[in-house]
Amino acid sequence: MSVVIGTEEIEVAYGDMSVVRGVSLEVRQGEAVAVIGPNGAGKTTLFKAIAGLLALRGGRILYEGARLDGLRHYEIVKRGVVYVPAERELFPQMSVLENLELGAYTNYGSRAERLKFVLGVFPRLEERKGQMAGTLSGGEQQMLAVGRGLMARPRILLLDEPSTGLAPLFVSEMYRQLTRLKGEGLTILIAEQQIPHALAFTERAYVLENGAIRLSGKSEDLLGNSEIQKTYLGMA
Ligand SMILES: Nc1ncnc2c1ncn2[C@@H]1O[C@H](COP(=O)(O)OP(=O)(O)OP(=O)(O)O)[C@@H](O)[C@H]1O
Ligand SMILES: [Mg+2]
Repeated sequence: MSVVIGTEEIEVAYGDMSVVRGVSLEVRQGEAVAVIGPNGAGKTTLFKAIAGLLALRGGRILYEGARLDGLRHYEIVKRGVVYVPAERELFPQMSVLENLELGAYTNYGSRAERLKFVLGVFPRLEERKGQMAGTLSGGEQQMLAVGRGLMARPRILLLDEPSTGLAPLFVSEMYRQLTRLKGEGLTILIAEQQIPHALAFTERAYVLENGAIRLSGKSEDLLGNSEIQKTYLGMA
């Protein structure tokens, strides 16, 4: 499996405060990889840096063997690296359909074909396509955020805590849909607080603490790791 994206010793800071400190990770073609870690560990900062929304202070990012860091966000999306923010950032006064179409801003020509695909993945969005995004339930808004990301024709999707604020039933539903997307060959990097879900869904995971990778390995091994069980799964 070829490496789709790799970060090499990347550093990201807000002012003088270094928040991501020497992080190296890689995601291979067709893999789902998790980044887990406590609040404030730097997961969102890491994802935003990959997406070109924050500049690197050090290190570099390779995508399909070429430098990704330094490119503008638009160029990064156009190449197929698509970030879905935890905050969703939908346009509440616009319809579901309009929000989806905006997701295709880098590949407008293929939006009709993409739309068919996305509405197939999320039939619920098809039912609600004329509804204002702001009036959707939390779970539906999350589907819309992921759907909008899919409109950009991602090669790799960076999902930042897709289960935040969702009822357990919706979390399971979201993971069923993500499993289906993965089955269609989509490569996924996911930040998650729902550790059991994340480790069940992914092949590998990185544990980020205080801006640095503390542990990494196969997800199934991490699920059985006593430190992980104690710190993140509340097991004695
Ligand atoms: N815009 C900002 N300016 C200054 N500091 C920031 C900014 N955004 C985040 N931070 C700080 O950077 C650190 C990492 O934040 P980040 O949001 O990346 O963590 P996270 O792992 O995504 O946490 P969570 O699980 O709560 O989403 C935190 O200490 C946070 O307070
Ligand atoms: Mg975050």
